[in-house]
Amino acid sequence: MQEKWSIRLIRIAAIFGLVGTVLGSHMAGSGSYAFKPIHAHILLVGWLSVFSWGVFYKICRVRATKLVAVHGWTAIIGSIGLTTGMWLQFIQPFNINETFSLVFYIVGGTILLLAFALFVLMTFLVERTEKR
Ligand code: HEM
Ligand code: HEM
Repeated sequence: MQEKWSIRLIRIAAIFGLVGTVLGSHMAGSGSYAFKPIHAHILLVGWLSVFSWGVFYKICRVRATKLVAVHGWTAIIGSIGLTTGMWLQFIQPFNINETFSLVFYIVGGTILLLAFALFVLMTFLVERTEKR
């Protein structure tokens, strides 16, 4: 279960890393920094935070296995939701409905917040198999 979530989170982080650096290259190339906060969150939330959670599940055993899946899903939905919502809200592509983009952004951000809160709990549920 944890092994599956570990590699799943690391794969998603890798995709975020690629998308974020492509966006950074586009910003540098075009000289337009409109995407800066989106680039920053794709890389800091999507690449670095999701990757860290993936590594955590590789090296630590936690007691509540079902919560791993809950945390994993909130991490995936929250990171994609926040960054997509931010893009919709800040850039307003395709003349998107403003209420829709705002709700998307808020719901995405809130689910991400939940992922960070659940992770605090996870760090307290680590199994102590050996004395360190
Ligand atoms: C191909 C690689 C990358 C390119 C070309 C790139 C390009 C850029 C550019 C042009 C900016 C705007 C700088 C400014 O405001 O003057 C920026 C900002 C930023 N980048 Fe990247 N970036 C890359 C990779 C990364 C990576 C790997 C991370 C983090 C893991 C990262 C994190 C950030 C952050 C946090 C900001 C916002 C900094 C601030 O608040 O001023 N970038 N990047
Ligand atoms: C609930 C989740 C989050 C929300 C709603 C949020 C929202 C925001 C907002 C509104 C800004 C200002 C953007 C602007 O107008 O330039 C910002 C900036 C920033 N946030 Fe977040 N953030 C969240 C999580 C995070 C996390 C987890 C990290 C790091 C791991 C982070 C790193 C940053 C950085 C580095 C900046 C400055 C980016 C720039 O210079 O454009 N944020 N965030």
